[in-house]
Amino acid sequence: MNNQQKIRIFVIPAVLLLVLVYSYGQLAAKQKPRKGFSIGERFHQETSLTWRGVIGNLFLTKPKKPPQYKTYPGAKLVKLPKPKYQGITVEEAIEKRRSVRNYSTRPISLLELSQLLFAAQGVTGRMYGEPLRSTPSAGALYPIEIYVVVNNVQGLSQGIYHYAIRNHELELIKSGDFSAKITDAGLEQEMLGEADVTFILSAIFDRIRHKYGERGFRYVYMEAGHISQNIYLQAVSLGLGSVSVGAFIDEKVNQLISIDGYKEAAIYLHAVGTL
Ligand SMILES: Cc1cc2nc3c(=O)[nH]c(=O)nc-3n(C[C@H](O)[C@H](O)[C@H](O)COP(=O)(O)O)c2cc1C
Repeated sequence: MNNQQKIRIFVIPAVLLLVLVYSYGQLAAKQKPRKGFSIGERFHQETSLTWRGVIGNLFLTKPKKPPQYKTYPGAKLVKLPKPKYQGITVEEAIEKRRSVRNYSTRPISLLELSQLLFAAQGVTGRMYGEPLRSTPSAGALYPIEIYVVVNNVQGLSQGIYHYAIRNHELELIKSGDFSAKITDAGLEQEMLGEADVTFILSAIFDRIRHKYGERGFRYVYMEAGHISQNIYLQAVSLGLGSVSVGAFIDEKVNQLISIDGYKEAAIYLHAVGTL
């Protein structure tokens, strides 16, 4: 076979195929939103995977990947006690788990808070040297940050802290009693102010969008569910009560943790207290 024949048989079809895939991708990337549906229905439809969408996604301009770890330089650090690996069986925890909204006035200990944070997002392994966490994450991209509104924890002053997962420590971002503010932000659900600690789960959407596009938004909410379930089960194992909370005024919670509500937004709360 001479060179001209090789070009005709292999190169031209390959170039044509590339042009075809590229054009199809460009077209698919420009899918128009369908009219006449509610925002929720559109969210689901427009983040549904189709082969056309998957190919189109390759051609979409995606946001840049934000840093994997949020840090608060200069913040007061609180080293958390090492988590333990003991307790009731997972079967018992599943059987006993209930949403609990009434708590005693007894504080939780720092060790208990440490254990809850570890269950929520603690580092449990490594892949290619990078930390893996206690809950699964699409592409191991970990878009969720955790903050805690500390109301009544032994040995820890009241305030709002950010969980720095790599060193298993807390960074103090605001000092003071935020029980009234978190209750107000949570549509006056009183357990939020009475809880010893309220977890705020926020999402940095671009951490997952830079790879999965708009589909990534779905993954973020799924991941929040994984985290909250771990908090539920860990609380049961520690003999504590807890409840997850989806009803809150977004803007108020975002303001509490000083995030913009777009690039990073609060997506789920979880209150924990003693029985
Ligand atoms: C996504 C989600 C949002 C929720 N939001 C609230 C809430 O805002 N306030 C509340 O008291 N309970 C909330 N719950 C807890 C449910 O009310 C509770 O899980 C349900 O009544 C079943 O009871 P159980 O958890 O004890 O099995 C929420 C649960 C989920 C999964």
